[in-house]
Amino acid sequence: MVRTMTDTGTDSGAAAGERAVARCDVLGVSPFSDEIDLLYRPWLGPGFIATVEAISNWMRQAGMTVRQDAATNLIGRYEGTTLDAPALLFGSHLDSVRDGGRYDGMLGVIAALEVVAGFHERGERFPFAIEIVGFGDEEGSRFPITMLTTRSIAGVLEEDDPVAAFAGLRDGTGLTVEQALARVGLTPRGMAAARRPKDSVLAYVEAHIEQGPVLEAEGRALGVVSGIAAQRRFEIRVHGMAGHAGTMAMSLRQDALTAAAEMVLAIERIGVAGGDRDGLVATVGLLRTWPGVANVVPGDVTFTIDVRAGTNTTRDRTVDVFLAALKEIAERRGVEIEIIPRENLDPSPCDPHLMTLMETAVQDVTGEPARVLVSGAGHDAMIMSRLAPMAMLFIRCEKGISHNPAEAVLPADVGEAVIALTRFVRLFADDCSKTQGRHSA
Ligand code: GLV
Ligand code: MN
Ligand code: MN
Repeated sequence: MVRTMTDTGTDSGAAAGERAVARCDVLGVSPFSDEIDLLYRPWLGPGFIATVEAISNWMRQAGMTVRQDAATNLIGRYEGTTLDAPALLFGSHLDSVRDGGRYDGMLGVIAALEVVAGFHERGERFPFAIEIVGFGDEEGSRFPITMLTTRSIAGVLEEDDPVAAFAGLRDGTGLTVEQALARVGLTPRGMAAARRPKDSVLAYVEAHIEQGPVLEAEGRALGVVSGIAAQRRFEIRVHGMAGHAGTMAMSLRQDALTAAAEMVLAIERIGVAGGDRDGLVATVGLLRTWPGVANVVPGDVTFTIDVRAGTNTTRDRTVDVFLAALKEIAERRGVEIEIIPRENLDPSPCDPHLMTLMETAVQDVTGEPARVLVSGAGHDAMIMSRLAPMAMLFIRCEKGISHNPAEAVLPADVGEAVIALTRFVRLFADDCSKTQGRHSA
C-alpha cells in the first residue's frame, strides 16, 4: 500500500472517514430533514435550504469560495495555481428520497470535501481548480421529474426540455416547480443560466455508496464504476368510475384500483420473466387512489413505472411489452389509461481513461486490483457525462441496502475512499501535465 498519513492532511484517512460519516449523520435529521421522525430532504424544502447553509460553511472552512447557481446547485471552488483555471468537478446530490438513508448522494459531497480539506491544510494546489457540486434534485422525490439542476449545469436543460414536459406538475403539497423556484427568486427557464462552458470543466467525478451487495460480498471497501444502466420512467393514470361501495354491483364496476393492481402484477411478471438479463429491473414505487376512502369504488389511480437495463434495447423492448399488457388489461376491464413518459436516460459509460486512473488510485490504496462494476442506480454522473468525461467510485454499504433508513457505511471505508480520491486528483494532475507537455512539444 502506498497510502500515507499526508494523504488526508494532518489526520489519518480513518479520521477523515469518521468526520465524513458524522457530518452525513448530522444532516440526516431535522432541521436538515423536512420530517421529524425520518429523513426526507426534497429539493428546495426547508431541510434542503438548511443543508446548503451547513455545507457552505464547511466548504469555506476547507478553503473554498461558495456560491449557488441559477439552478440552486451548491458549488464550492478551490482555486488552482492560477485563478480561473478550468476545474475538476466532484459532486453528488443533496436531496433524498422519502424515508431515505443518510449517505445516498450526501456522502459523495462530504467525502469530496474531506479531499479538498486535505489539500487546503497542506497548501497543495493544482494547475486546475477543484469544485464540489451539491446537486438539487437527483432523486425526483419532490416533483415527478429528475435532475433538472444537473441538466442545467450540463447545458442540456433546453435540449431535453423537461421544463415543457413538467409544466403544471405539482409536488405533494400542490406547489408547481415554478412556484417552488419563485420562492427562492428563480424560474425554470432561468435555470439554464447555470450552464457551464465545456472548456471550464476538465472532468466530473462522483463518489457514491454502491447501493448494492457486490463489494460487501467480495470483502472490498471500494469499486470503480464502468457505466450506469439505462432508465425510463412513466406515470400511468387509470380512469374507471367511482361508485357507492354498498350499491354498485360487482359485475358493473369499472374499478380503477383492481385494474391497476392487475397492471402492477403484470409489470412484476414481465420484469421477473426477464430473468435478470442485462440487469433488467422494473418497479412500481408510487400508487395513489382517488378518492381514496373506504366506501367508494376507486374512480382513478395513478402509479409510476421505473424500468432499467444495461442497454436501451432490453429496456425499450420490455417497455413495449409492459405497455401492450397495460392496454390489454384496460380494455378487458373497461377502464381508460393515460401513459405519460417522465424520464428517459440512455446508459452512461464511464470514461475509459478516467476509469484507468481511478482503478490505479484504488489499487494503490487497497493493494489489490480494483473491482469494476456497473451501476444499476441512477446518478448525476449520467447527465454530467454529457458535459465532460466522467468517472465514479463506489463505496461499500451494509448489505447493499439503500433508499432505506437502514443504509450504513463503515467510516474506515469512507477513509479509504478519501485517500483514493486524493490519489486520483494527483494522478489526474500528472496526466494533465503529460498531456500539456505533449501539446507544447
Ligand atoms: C436514484 O437513486 C435512482 O437510481 O433512482
Ligand atoms: Mn437515491
Ligand atoms: Mn444517489
